Amino acid sequence: MWQAHLARAHGRDARATQNPLKKPETTFVCQSCGHQSRKWLGKCPDCGEWNSLVEERTRATKKGLGRSSFTLKDVEAVAYQEIESQDDVRVPSGVTEFDRVLGGGIVPGTLVLIGGDPGIGKSTLLLQVADKLSASGALVLYISGEESERQIKLRGERLGIQAQNLYLLPETNLENIFHEVERLKPAAIIVDSIQTVFSALIESAPGSVSQVREVAHQFLLLAKNRSIPVFLIGHITKDGSIAGPKALEHIVDTVLYFEGERHHNHRIVRATKNRFGAANEVGIFEMTSAGLIAVANPSKLFLEERPRNVAGSVVTACMEGTRPLLVEVQALVSGTKYGTGRRMTQGVDQNRVSLLIAMLEKRAGFQLIGDDVFVNIAGGLEVDEPAADLGVVAAIASSFKNTPIDPQTAVFGEVGLTGEVRGAMQPAVRAREAQALGFKKIVVPSSNTTGLERLLGVRVVGVRSVEEALAELF
Ligand code: TYD
Ligand code: MG
Repeated sequence: MWQAHLARAHGRDARATQNPLKKPETTFVCQSCGHQSRKWLGKCPDCGEWNSLVEERTRATKKGLGRSSFTLKDVEAVAYQEIESQDDVRVPSGVTEFDRVLGGGIVPGTLVLIGGDPGIGKSTLLLQVADKLSASGALVLYISGEESERQIKLRGERLGIQAQNLYLLPETNLENIFHEVERLKPAAIIVDSIQTVFSALIESAPGSVSQVREVAHQFLLLAKNRSIPVFLIGHITKDGSIAGPKALEHIVDTVLYFEGERHHNHRIVRATKNRFGAANEVGIFEMTSAGLIAVANPSKLFLEERPRNVAGSVVTACMEGTRPLLVEVQALVSGTKYGTGRRMTQGVDQNRVSLLIAMLEKRAGFQLIGDDVFVNIAGGLEVDEPAADLGVVAAIASSFKNTPIDPQTAVFGEVGLTGEVRGAMQPAVRAREAQALGFKKIVVPSSNTTGLERLLGVRVVGVRSVEEALAELF
């Protein structure tokens, strides 16, 4: 008994000392940021996420297929001057707003990640893109790990899709998928979703960081080698990042996110990263019974239900990517039931609003400490540019004074801590959008007025400070 025990202990010791440098077969990988650790940790030291480390096997199971096997190849650098310009080879998908977020069409050989909450319309949008692409004669392969062919066909029927050259493949095994790609030679590939696809060469569970990263990497190679676009649909986890996540964002060329809520009819697709176009570009769609329809005039859509001659509402001109967008800022100032007033916001940064309120108290003599202040961007839009400051200030002032602002007036401008109104970028584009929607007056930073004098039918008022702006508005 004793001896057996000793022998076992020794045996273990002997095994342990056999090869102290041998790599552990598993590592712990943060499912949020991809950080790797040899031991389990409660909190990821990289991204600070709690309880996100999961044990994963990292070694490829089949010898010779891992990353470590490589052969020496002749490689040659290419002269910059000899490289052909690629800008004219964009292929329009046929879905105008989708082309817009991509920067003007699909670049061949590009890997695009499309993320968003469940049920927001990712599969719908990509099926519509597949339909339009295939209508132009391209063979499109739609790989679905989530729905059967029947289900996709059902959705297609709802969307009124013909899709002559569209092929569906309900498969999750990467090797099988690549086999079929080899046979079919599609001109575009859609993967719905990246989290369901797994490589049999990796031992981790499908959806884990190692798997998702490996699969995305293989699709990247496929896209580059065959020079075809590959679209990866990705799920967003509770905290808003795509599972298997930041690791993916830097692998792909373009990251598109669905924004907004399911309770609104419109859907906003934003490019948060784009190697082939402007980041922050947005595409705006409306979800209808016939799928997602591109919204031709988004400002009109966002101002549709605007109340007229009501205190606490003003229209501000924002830039979303390269496009101007008019949105309504709403504010409600009301006496608080608590000691100090609350500041609640939706669609604008709460800290920014607190700062503007403090500025209003100090510079414009408003007493807001005993009031709750609520600020909202109508239509569920998120506005994060400083040029919306003047709109927020004007809406709060309007509600505080209980005086409506003329509904034919729009404003924009950044507000500083001393109450100065600073210039915004692209004032002419914003002003022209206001003009196009029939606004008669715009209040802008005085440094932005040059070049705006010739705007037909619009009175442009330049202001230097918040006091000047409020005097002009009320
Ligand atoms: P879907 O594309 O399946 O979402 P995701 O792939 O992002 O999870 O979208 C599903 C939602 O869209 C569902 O709630 C129903 C709605 N929908 C419409 O309103 N109209 C349509 O024509 C279609 C196909 C879906
Ligand atoms: Mg889906």
